[in-house]
Amino acid sequence: MREFVRLASGLAVAGLWVALAFQAEASDVKIVDDGIPAPLTKTAGNVDAGRKAVINRKQGNCLACHAVSSLDNQPFHGEVGPSLDGVSERYSDAQLRLILVDSKKIFDGTIMPAFYRKDGYSRVAKKFDGKTILSAQQIEDVLAFLKTQ
Ligand code: HEC
Repeated sequence: MREFVRLASGLAVAGLWVALAFQAEASDVKIVDDGIPAPLTKTAGNVDAGRKAVINRKQGNCLACHAVSSLDNQPFHGEVGPSLDGVSERYSDAQLRLILVDSKKIFDGTIMPAFYRKDGYSRVAKKFDGKTILSAQQIEDVLAFLKTQ
């Protein structure tokens, strides 16, 4: 019995630690003015991984709404949003990071999804609760890709 209590309290402590670690990750996103100046991850963004996330229909799916000239080999490019060519000349890295994390902070009422927002949904199916469309690393990857356009 005593063993069991020790095990159970050990697990509870571990669970709390995981919960705190998770919260810390979510609050790492610090908005300053109209951008997020600090990278979300320690690993620098990877252009090729970013390109894949942009194209992937279950990840960024950016081409559903945006044209990107360098991805001419891809079948369909939407026109709902502006072309992403030269976008890093129009915005700073910090601004682009915020647009990717939560575009609604910049474009009021936009239909562009928030790719890395963990709160703000009134109702979510349990399996989506706390999940984001892109991971923190994918946000950095997509940003790296956008800067090459
Ligand atoms: C459902 C449509 C939709 C999807 C999907 C979408 N966007 Fe957007 N995006 C928009 C719209 C619309 C705007 C213009 C802002 C507005 O007025 O709503 C925009 C604006 C932007 C801007 C600012 C461009 C500028 O020149 O002002 C960037 C950068 C951007 N999107 C990047 C992306 C990336 C990268 C992805 C994929 C990870 C993506 N978007 C996915 C609809 C979308």
